[in-house]
Parts: sequence; C-alpha cells; structure tokens
Amino acid sequence: MSIKILSGTVLGLEGVLVEIEADITPTSLPAFIVVGLPDAAVQESRERIRSAIKNSGFKFPPSRIAVNLAPADIKKQGPSFDLPIALALLCAARQLEVKLPIDKTLILGELSLDGRLRPVNGVLAMVIGAQEKGMERVIVPKDNISEASVIKEMEIIGVESLAQAVEFLNGSKHIAIANNFELTPADIKYSIDFSDIKGQEGVKRALEIAAAGGHNISMSGPPGSGKTLLAKAFIGILPQMTREEILEVTKIYSVAGLLSVDQPLILHRSFRTPHHTASSVALVGGGSFIKPGEISLAHRGVLFLDEFPEFPRSVLDSLRQPLEDGIVTVSRAQGSVQFPAKFILVTAMNPCPCGFLSDPVKKCVCSPSQVINYQKKISGPLLDRIDLHTEVPRVEYEKLVSLQKSESSKSIADRVLNSRRKQWLRFRNQNIYTNSEMGLEHIRNFCHLDIDSQELMKKAVDQMNLSARSYHRILKIARTIADLSNIENIRLEHVAESLQYRSKLRQI
Ligand SMILES: Nc1ncnc2c1ncn2[C@@H]1O[C@H](COP(=O)(O)OP(=O)(O)OP(=O)(O)O)[C@@H](O)[C@H]1O
Ligand SMILES: [Mg+2]
Repeated sequence: MSIKILSGTVLGLEGVLVEIEADITPTSLPAFIVVGLPDAAVQESRERIRSAIKNSGFKFPPSRIAVNLAPADIKKQGPSFDLPIALALLCAARQLEVKLPIDKTLILGELSLDGRLRPVNGVLAMVIGAQEKGMERVIVPKDNISEASVIKEMEIIGVESLAQAVEFLNGSKHIAIANNFELTPADIKYSIDFSDIKGQEGVKRALEIAAAGGHNISMSGPPGSGKTLLAKAFIGILPQMTREEILEVTKIYSVAGLLSVDQPLILHRSFRTPHHTASSVALVGGGSFIKPGEISLAHRGVLFLDEFPEFPRSVLDSLRQPLEDGIVTVSRAQGSVQFPAKFILVTAMNPCPCGFLSDPVKKCVCSPSQVINYQKKISGPLLDRIDLHTEVPRVEYEKLVSLQKSESSKSIADRVLNSRRKQWLRFRNQNIYTNSEMGLEHIRNFCHLDIDSQELMKKAVDQMNLSARSYHRILKIARTIADLSNIENIRLEHVAESLQYRSKLRQI
C-alpha cells in the first residue's frame, strides 16, 4: 500500500510542504529511483536510506522502487528527506502500518548509515510553514527539538532513530510531546562596557540615539581613538529581542545552518563583523544553494563594518537597496528569494590613509589627492543612508588616566529601552518597531514641527544642500531625540541636535 508522507523544504525563509510517495514493483529488476527535482544531496540519500533500513532491522525490498517528491517544480535540497523517504518506502513494503493521522504529520530528518537521526537545517521555517497549512504534529530528530518546540501550536515529537520513528508511527511506542521552549532570554554580560571607555561623550550620545531609534551611524577618527571599542560596546545597550524578533532571527540562522545543539535558538541580538575582504555574496546572500548573507544574519542586530573604506566599492554599493528597504532579494537561475535585513549599520573609518587628517596635534602626511581618493571609495548615496555621522577625536591624556568611571552600559540601556517602549506603543499594529523604519505616512503623523523648528529646517535644507532623503532622516532622528528626552512633540533643540549629526557628513 502506498501512502503519502509529508515533509518540507525551505524557499528563502518560507517553509514549503513536500509530499513523498513510494511505489514498489516486485517483478522488475532492483532499482531505486527518486524523481521530483531532487538535488545531489537528495540523490545521495538513496545510499543512506538503503543502509539505515538494513541496519535498523528491516528488509530493503529487492525490487524496483520509485519515490516521487511533489510538487515537482520546486527544487528539493538537503538531506532532510531521508527519514520521510525511508518511512514511505517501509509503508510501501508493508513493513510499517501507520496508526495516526499521517496527513497532519510533518516528518524531517537526516539518516546516518546505522539508522540514527542527525539534525537538519531550516526546521523552524518548516514547522511554521506546516502550522500555517493546518498540520498538527511534527516528527524531528532529537537534536532539533528545542528549535521546533518554540511553536506552541504544534505537537513536537523528537526521535533518535528510524526504528524509533517506526515504533511511534505504528503505535507500539509512546513518545512524550516535547515541552514548549520558553523564550525568556537571560541577561548576558558583554565583554566591553561603556564605563570602560574614557571620554568620547559626544560619540556615546550619538550611539545612544542610534540604539534608541535603530539608526545607522558612522564614526571617523584617528587610529587608536576607540572606534572599534565603541562599536563593540554598542551591542550592549540595545534592548532584548521580543518573541517575534527571536523567531524571525532564529529562522534565518536555521536556514543558514548556523544553529547547533548548544545554541538551538538565537536569543540575543547579533553583532556581525564581516572582514573587508568579504564578497558581495557573503554580505548580501546568494550561492548555488541560496543562503542568507551577513546583512540578514545581522537582522534586528548590528552590522559593523570596520575600516569602512577598505571594502571594495561594488561590495558596499550592494548595501544600498537593503539599507533602504530592510529586505534583500537574491535572484539566481533557479528563482529569486527574499531575506529580511533590518539591521543597524555601524561603520568605523579613518578620515584619510594616514588617519590624522582631523587630528589637532599630529600632522597629516597625506596629499590632497590621496585624501580625496580614499574618501571617494565610499559613494555619496551610501553615506546619505547613514543618519548619524560622528567624529571620534583622540582621547586626552588626563581623561585616559582619570579614575572617574563613565556611565555604564546598563544605565544607557535603560534609557534606550524606555524610548523603545514609546516607539512600540506608537507603532503597535503598524508592522514596524523603531523610528528608523518610519515611512512617509508615519513621518507625516508622528514628526510634526513647530514654527521655529520649521524655520531652522528650511535654512538647513538651503544651506546644507540636503536631499529629500536627508530631510526625512533628520526628522526621524529628531523624533528619537525627543523620545529619549521623554517629550511628546519634537522641539527646536531636538532638530538642532539632529542637524548637527548630518553636518559632519562630508560633501562629495
Ligand atoms: N576612549 C578610550 N578609553 C579607553 N581605552 C581606549 C580608548 N580609546 C582607545 N583605547 C585603547 O586603545 C585600543 C585601540 O582602540 P580601538 O581599536 O578602538 O581604536 P580604533 O579607533 O578602532 O583604531 P583604528 O583606527 O586603528 O582601527 C583599545 O583596545 C584600548 O586599549
Ligand atoms: Mg579600529
């Protein structure tokens, strides 16, 4: 008897159901054929299944076996079909009689030759996809339980081997439903605290605004002034992720194959620091088996590009569209997929090749053309997408050796959280979380300017030659500054401070 076993695959971040059926023709010569657009890993599964069936105490039918994966127009990737194919085959060979509603059960798992199960990638995306399709139960390898059991609406059954899966399906063994994994991230201590960084109050203030509203920020200054240090401390002042954010980010890491038994969920915001030799594909995603890139791995977290001008210009320009839309579309011959990419971009650079252009003490030894060539490596449109431009001056000796402690990350984080709460309330039911994500309509509704502020803005737009994008970004920053000060309406001082971060933008 042939029955349909349901399994899944991922398209981008979406879980898609795949129906698996097996047919055995006893009179033909032995063969094992898999059809339905399987990739090399699925083709190889035949060898694993053959050995796993034999080594689990079952009989591999010495006949012609055809396995069909439907729908036929979606490419089936990876080894997660091993277990469902083996089970479909055992049903067709009458060695397994399923006693539960199989049309409501999703089955995933890679087999090893001895019949034990290995964890697979993309489980969370597939479980969410299956739940949306009305499925009730999912059978996964034991090591994937934590990841799958975040979805409370599904019964999660963790199995260790093919034999155990068969015993569960034919009703001879009871396996308890895995407990739901509670998403309550514990506080973690980051290695660098703001209180360890001396001076730099201006930059710290800008970083606080960036964290509060989710704005992009650039830091420019001489070598050794603390840019990298400040960026590393920045992650520690961001608020904890919400349940929805944890699910979004874990889904991305799951599809990228970056989850492990030790880290089955991503509970804390990511801090991604790709090296400047990274390729466009590594940064925005792609590859023959399309995977999310660094910008998606930094989703809801921080993408830190240190030594910003050292990145090839083509690589940097690939960031322009995702920075605007918060989503990246990767197109390949086999189709196009979208990955979310809402991150805070933090960049650090020296103002010139020797690094001392803006330094009041040490003389810059670069020629004007060297400086221009260095700065031209970053395109104007990309700089325009960065909201806060700051200078990180050298720290004076007195400040460096002073015993006075600066404000701690914890107390800055409290203010950031407070202003984020205001934003969550403001944007509830609007599908956005922070001021930086505001569209034109939100800006119209939430960024009213009084007469004085309008006057100041008018002068600034004329004198600083601001683009329409800059204008809107200044308004968003002013909104965040007002939120940080616990003030309902944007005032003149908020706009003035906001403009100050724009004025440091070098004009190209
Ligand atoms: N404000 C500061 N307070 C305390 N220590 C500092 C400060 N700034 C720099 N340092 C010290 O200098 C070291 C180098 O700082 P960091 O790597 O952040 O400099 P940078 O600005 O990134 O330099 P570069 O432009 O060369 O990358 C730090 O590890 C720290 O020991
Ligand atoms: Mg550095």
